[in-house]
Amino acid sequence: MPAINEQFTATVRDLGTDGRGIVEHPGGQVFFVAGVWPGETARFAVTGFRQRFGFARLLELLEPSPARIAPRCAHHGTGPGDCGGCPWQFVSYEAQLAAKEQRVHQALARLQLADRVAPIWGSPDVFGYRNRAQFKTDGRKLGYVAAGSRTLAPIADCPILTAHNRATLQELLQSLPNSEFKPGRKQDWTALDVDDDIDAAEVSANRRRPFRQGNTAQNLRMRNWLGDAVRGLDRHRPVLELFSGSGNFTEVLAEAGFTPILAVEAVEDSVQALAARQLPGVEARRCNLFVEADCARLQEQAREASILVLDPPRDGFKLAAQLLTRKHRFRDVFYISCDLATFTRDLATFLDAGLQVAELQPLDLFPHTPHVELLCWLRRESPGGR
Ligand SMILES: C[S@@+](CC[C@H](N)C(=O)[O-])C[C@H]1O[C@@H](n2cnc3c(N)ncnc32)[C@H](O)[C@@H]1O
Repeated sequence: MPAINEQFTATVRDLGTDGRGIVEHPGGQVFFVAGVWPGETARFAVTGFRQRFGFARLLELLEPSPARIAPRCAHHGTGPGDCGGCPWQFVSYEAQLAAKEQRVHQALARLQLADRVAPIWGSPDVFGYRNRAQFKTDGRKLGYVAAGSRTLAPIADCPILTAHNRATLQELLQSLPNSEFKPGRKQDWTALDVDDDIDAAEVSANRRRPFRQGNTAQNLRMRNWLGDAVRGLDRHRPVLELFSGSGNFTEVLAEAGFTPILAVEAVEDSVQALAARQLPGVEARRCNLFVEADCARLQEQAREASILVLDPPRDGFKLAAQLLTRKHRFRDVFYISCDLATFTRDLATFLDAGLQVAELQPLDLFPHTPHVELLCWLRRESPGGR
């Protein structure tokens, strides 16, 4: 087993799901390293271990990748004071997209579906796209806390934010020190949610904003994809929509004339916001879709509905099999996913239930991160069979 601080030279062979490079120590152990790209040869130092894997940091790049570029953001980096929010900002956007596409291909190959994957839709804006963010502050400093870190990385600017949110950030920074943002005794930080709908004066400590897809232009593309896909379907086929939020996709379905639509969501504020919109044919219902007993109450709707739309959080929809019993009548399923691992897990359940992939469209919502969104249309040709 290599020792902490031991140095070694290796070539980056792949990228992990969190975007870090994967290298092999001469002794055979696998290490994860931030800030490196496949094909690069470098010198590394061992920093720690977790279970069978190790972590290392980059000491010296010996053969850099041709995909490397100068990151635009002053806070980009892999050190303790760096933001860590855009781990791929040091490579070209083309290389980022190719890496995302490759991840999707690798994951779908395990289900023999790699040939069904369409070319990824890149984001029209690679900076200035992010319509929501959560800052952290102790009332004196303000910035981001990278995943897995306990260190606040103070920021002076954030170029991935929309112009509106960038201006909000400047106003919040100018308000410091701000006693209203002081964390409670048991908290490390105060969370400040911002988005394109509120100004700095409306930002409150630890007040969650309703969910919204983080990239407005790409969300429009997702909505258009769904609208185009359902255009040829009979509008009188009942629709069950799961994880509906406050109705981003419900609106597309209602505007296309589908009725009835049962939209299901766990967060009461979102259910109420959707109900308040009074979209024709839509019933908004609160239900925790991660609880077996709650989910079981939707079995009757699952038997009546022939169109299923679902857009779960990263955990996916583990209880899908509960609705896909012998009696289910789903002939068209639209699965919008923000997590490749849970998507491929759930996809196997849908395939087992007799559905087949008609379209699989990856899309980039978050440039400079390893995140990839998937739009999948599954169909069942013979409604009677499984
Ligand atoms: C990816 S968002 C999609 C929201 C909506 N489709 C949109 O485009 O804005 C996932 C949604 O699932 C909801 N959610 C999370 N956990 C849930 C659960 N256990 N049961 C039901 N809904 C849940 C969240 O509140 C959120 O609205």
